[in-house]
Amino acid sequence: MKFGGIMRSATLALVILFLGFSAPSFADDLEEVVAAADATAGAQQFRQCSACHTVDEGGANRVGPNLWGILGRDVGAVEGFRYSRTLSGAEDSWSLETLNAFIENPRAARPGTTMSFPGVRNETRRLDVLAYLATLGTPQVESE
Ligand code: HEC
Repeated sequence: MKFGGIMRSATLALVILFLGFSAPSFADDLEEVVAAADATAGAQQFRQCSACHTVDEGGANRVGPNLWGILGRDVGAVEGFRYSRTLSGAEDSWSLETLNAFIENPRAARPGTTMSFPGVRNETRRLDVLAYLATLGTPQVESE
């Protein structure tokens, strides 16, 4: 029937719109979704990282380097920490995009990394972790 067809197309269009807006695959979108994510939940998620990472300013390196100010920091930049060649030789810095990819799947994002952690594949949890990391000394994600 005609009406049913229109309803189906309308629903389909809405779904496509929704997917388009919710996919954090573009830089601007990522900034927005991270700003809207839950940093407090991210702090809880971070417990799985804190066996290896401290987050306080000037905090100690453990199995992994201290992560204070990680957003915007040069990759592999903590003095005195023995990074893999992959990270010590990297010439970029940690943006939301590069952090997102690394935390999702460390070895795929930085082949050769010694961070033996499988990654946070769940997108909501990962965005929450990013929101939390963004609170660590570099308030670059604007909350709008
Ligand atoms: C089993 C220990 C371990 C766990 C758990 C772990 N990491 Fe790491 N992490 C490391 C190591 C080791 C490195 C250094 C990797 C290298 O040099 O290749 C690292 C490096 C990093 C870096 C790059 C730091 C820099 O100075 O460039 C980030 C960011 C990071 N980890 C975030 C996280 C987050 C977020 C989690 C939790 C979701 C996490 N890590 C869980 C061990 C760990």
